[in-house]
Amino acid sequence: MSKVIYPGTFDPITKGHLDLVERAAKIFDHIVIAVAESPKKKPLFDLKYRVKMAETVTSHLDNVSVTGFSSLLAQFLKDEKAEVILRGLRAVSDFEYEFQMANMNRVLAPDVESLFLTPAEQYSYISSTLVREIASLGGDISTFVAPCVKEALDKKYGTGKQ
Ligand code: COA
Repeated sequence: MSKVIYPGTFDPITKGHLDLVERAAKIFDHIVIAVAESPKKKPLFDLKYRVKMAETVTSHLDNVSVTGFSSLLAQFLKDEKAEVILRGLRAVSDFEYEFQMANMNRVLAPDVESLFLTPAEQYSYISSTLVREIASLGGDISTFVAPCVKEALDKKYGTGKQ
């Protein structure tokens, strides 16, 4: 299997996302982390900065690249000439939404398949929203994100002294 697209908002990228990318990097020749603009989610970090953080965090992986996109995911796959979407399943509660998205993407792009990997257990409860909330209240997020991401969040919120 040659190329896989791993889409998400990555606001910011966490160790849970990274765990998934590292697993995929052993299976696929090339992983493209596709950072969605996701205006509806009103991201804390702009698209350019989310791309930069994802690049920094995955710089040790030769077969991983990062691209921002603001189109339909199905269109992005066509543009990239890719036919596989990678998504993470952290818990059973993720399943219903992922099932809906996979089916919708199959209608929009019939040749595309969605594949799912599970992150390591210690990352099964992380979400970018929780990480942002903990950081905004001055909590220690170093277990959940890479140092450069922690620094970026601390700077945004003016926290990080504990
Ligand atoms: N480790 C840690 N956190 C993880 C994770 C993992 N392995 N896997 C998922 N998450 C978290 C994410 O950080 C995110 O947290 P947040 O909501 O607090 O930010 C949450 O789980 C997943 O959110 P979700 O909304 O499911 O995904 P997303 O925002 O990361 O990505 C897109 C959704 C971008 C893939 C989807 O909206 C999309 O395809 N957009 C493009 C437009 C389009 O084509 N729309 C039609 C789709 S059918």
